[in-house]
Amino acid sequence: MVSADAALLFRRSFGDDPDVVASSAGRANLIGEHVDYVGGPVLPIAIDTRTAVAVRLRTSGESRAVSLQDAGLVRTFDTSLRARTGAWTDYIAGITRALEVNGVEIAAIDVAVASDVPVGSGLSSSAALMVAAASAISHATEQPTQPLVCAGLALRAEREFVGVPCGMMDQWASALGREGHALHLECATGATQQVPFSDAVLIVHSGVERNLGDSPYSARVSDCAEALLGLRQVVPHIDFLAQASEAQVRSAPMSERARKRALHVVGETARVREAVAAMLAGKGFPGELLTATHASLRDLFECSTPDLDWLAETAAAMDGVRGARLTGAGWGGCVMVLGDAAALPGVATRLARDYGRRTGRVVRSWISKASGGLALDLTHVGNRH
Ligand code: GLA
Repeated sequence: MVSADAALLFRRSFGDDPDVVASSAGRANLIGEHVDYVGGPVLPIAIDTRTAVAVRLRTSGESRAVSLQDAGLVRTFDTSLRARTGAWTDYIAGITRALEVNGVEIAAIDVAVASDVPVGSGLSSSAALMVAAASAISHATEQPTQPLVCAGLALRAEREFVGVPCGMMDQWASALGREGHALHLECATGATQQVPFSDAVLIVHSGVERNLGDSPYSARVSDCAEALLGLRQVVPHIDFLAQASEAQVRSAPMSERARKRALHVVGETARVREAVAAMLAGKGFPGELLTATHASLRDLFECSTPDLDWLAETAAAMDGVRGARLTGAGWGGCVMVLGDAAALPGVATRLARDYGRRTGRVVRSWISKASGGLALDLTHVGNRH
């Protein structure tokens, strides 16, 4: 659907067909929040909202980009940019820069983007855009890149070009997600395992958008770095904060703020392992872990908001619900609810009504299942030769 929209937008804006259209998925994280950048395990799913990128290479001139989420306006940008400009085209320029570092030179390109992943919602709109762009552009250069490599390029672009010190979860989930599976990713080693997961998931948007770059995300990354330094005084060879035990965190010298963050990491790491073990044993996802994660994000990691707390607590108390929590980085964005498939539409309606009355905001929600990640939707490359 979004792929056809991107191809159409491309034709309308640039008067010709794209060479390639690739699309990639938004993600919801089942469990393992704020542990990817400290070497912990995560368990996201790719969801069925996607971003498609249509691309055609040009041999010279300015590069052009157009997006339906930017009112269909054609913007120009430079593929050889070394620093961000603040425009959304940075996400594309970040990818061309990352490809160039890998030895793939791109003189100029035209790009059209269509997406139904809401921006600033904690569903990884930027990872979906950059993973799809990495795949589409590399295919257009006839040096097709595997999904895992696209995830790596997108991560590098997000960290080094866009400037967000994020972990690897979003890019890996967007690229490697598989229908009917959650992705168990060990961020210390990059090891992955597809874990069967066929439940429906309700995602409810709080109506508060946030941009990671403007949020306290970097401050939390620094708190965790401080905690690791303190831990090294009692456990000299520890590589990652997620390897620490609760007793070590309690005894190591660090500020009380860093200790709270570290205690979240220790508890969250254990919860991910418990969830994976239960799912692999065929017991399903233990919903109560979601509630425990939400409490830890609220009290120890301090990345929730009163609105997210209200949504998660209200949902968790409803019939047919097994657990609910904020998903993604926090400070706005979405709550994820697990429960009986038959109950979720009613839960969505009641949450929208009561939250709307409380805040005056219009709630958007989606019921999704674990879906496929990166896909090549159309290519004319090769046919032209
Ligand atoms: C954002 C980041 C991820 C991860 C989550 C929190 O989505 O991009 O790398 O840190 O926040 O779990």
